[in-house]
Amino acid sequence: AAILVLNGPNLNMLGKREPGVYGSKTLGEIEADTKAAGERLGMAVDFRQSNHEGMLIDWIHEALGRFRGIVINPGAYTHTSIALHDAIRAVGLPTIELHLSNVFAREDFRHHSYVSPVAAGVICGFGAAGYGLALQALQPLVE
Ligand code: DQA
Repeated sequence: AAILVLNGPNLNMLGKREPGVYGSKTLGEIEADTKAAGERLGMAVDFRQSNHEGMLIDWIHEALGRFRGIVINPGAYTHTSIALHDAIRAVGLPTIELHLSNVFAREDFRHHSYVSPVAAGVICGFGAAGYGLALQALQPLVE
């Protein structure tokens, strides 16, 4: 199955950005690991990042008919974007919400997600390993 993995704002800075919170791997390294995990699960992974809310929304729309499921780390748009909520709801593809950090152990403003109500489930707090876990979680939903 073809799976779309989306990464939102500031995730291009991984490796440099608060490594104590987000780990020391770059997004490029996480992409390679995620594609390898996908191969083991029989999933073809298309891995993308944008700092622009509208770009993420366009990609979600375009996923319809092209991908069987979505994994999304929406970054800070998690906590702000009704538009992302609506886009995921509109396409209706099984979607896993993913965060590297345990957002519930952090600031109060990270405790609310607009994405969670339209996600099949949420993985957070397991660092870069969460990407592989998200693919595993998605597998029975896209068979
Ligand atoms: C994040 C958590 C968000 O609160 C934050 O804004 C991010 C990254 C995570 O992966 O832990 O940019 O989604």
